[in-house]
Amino acid sequence: MYASKVDPSATRRAIDGDAGLAGLDAAVRRVLPPALYHYLAGASDDEATHARNLRAFGDYAFLPKVLVDVSQRSLSASLFGVERNLPFGIAPMGFSRLIAPDGDIALARAATDAGIPFILSGASLTRMEEVRAAGATSWFQAYVPGEAGRIAALVDRVEAAGFDTLVITADTAVHPKHERAARHGFRSPVKPSLGLAWQGLSHPGWLRRVLLRDRLAALKFRFENMDAGQGPPVFSATLTRDIGRRDALSWHHVDAVRRRWKGKLVIKGIMTAEDAATAAQAGVDGIIVSNHGGRQLDCAASSLTALERIVERRPPLTLMYDGGIRRGADVLKTLKLGADFVFVGRPMLMAAAIGGQRGVADAIALLAQEIDIALALLGIGRLAGLARVELLRDRGASS
Ligand SMILES: Cc1cc2nc3c(=O)[nH]c(=O)nc-3n(C[C@H](O)[C@H](O)[C@H](O)COP(=O)(O)O)c2cc1C
Repeated sequence: MYASKVDPSATRRAIDGDAGLAGLDAAVRRVLPPALYHYLAGASDDEATHARNLRAFGDYAFLPKVLVDVSQRSLSASLFGVERNLPFGIAPMGFSRLIAPDGDIALARAATDAGIPFILSGASLTRMEEVRAAGATSWFQAYVPGEAGRIAALVDRVEAAGFDTLVITADTAVHPKHERAARHGFRSPVKPSLGLAWQGLSHPGWLRRVLLRDRLAALKFRFENMDAGQGPPVFSATLTRDIGRRDALSWHHVDAVRRRWKGKLVIKGIMTAEDAATAAQAGVDGIIVSNHGGRQLDCAASSLTALERIVERRPPLTLMYDGGIRRGADVLKTLKLGADFVFVGRPMLMAAAIGGQRGVADAIALLAQEIDIALALLGIGRLAGLARVELLRDRGASS
């Protein structure tokens, strides 16, 4: 039983807060230079979609069952035929290595220890081969350019590195405007300036643990996994980041990847039942219902609303979810609404920024503990028992 391994006091120490995963926000704000904090915590434009993601869970409430023997509990969930200790994993996040000490490796190792999947981002700054060697993580998220030659070479590299699950992020045809991050000096690649230098100097913990680590090696960080070869540097006064013809990406390219990639293929960023059905027809093994944490289209519905619609015409593939999950009960509501598995973004990287690998382990343990408590209080011992409890659309729950 996973919950027995939970050490809530360590979690509290690491996250220095008392509000569950949402409490990480205030703690990480103190740790990170503002440009990085606002890039991590923020979303696009007015951040309305991100707010909708967070709020959506409040519109649902369970009717718990009582006087049920729940002394034997398990949080395990099956994903692509593999039994996982917990029903959640860690979503892909770019720039992790600049935000947290050895960020990609810390996330990979903590996920491996907890027996959950971690998806390495295509915008990561650690070579995928290195991350693969550091943990048992085997999911890679690609930012696939709409150019056939580049696709084949990237797919071959991912396969050679030993990943078995390829996630194509589909909701990034163009770069959105992250206005809050930009206001605080964040852009990609990062353009060195006096203002940013001051932000670094006034956050000595981050400076020491991330930037000065390995004798300023961080200043040479590059986008390592955008393509078959090395990408552009993160710090550059002149470069623009070449994201390829991402605006030309279409289902034809998904077909091309499907023909070449032998492992599990997942599309991330699906929001409609029609696209979910097309994915199933294209031979895709699973989708992640996601609006990119509100970081792309800022007038998109919440991911939870999209999930509900997709479930109405349930496609024959594995249905995963991300967006706004901050409590154990959020995980259970999402599973009850029809998802097979969920992913958590910001809180995990915030935990890494605060406490490194240990911080991520604490955040995972905290969420596991909350799921365990909610499960017991709902009167069910296993996730399969969710079929027997009622979830109501209860707008009063959020007021
Ligand atoms: C800092 C940051 C970087 C991200 N980078 C990527 C990325 O490289 N690829 C991707 O598919 N999604 C990326 N995302 C989106 C997440 O994978 C995920 O969809 C989102 O964070 C889920 O919402 P949540 O943060 O509310 O849990 C990023 C999110 C954040 C916060």
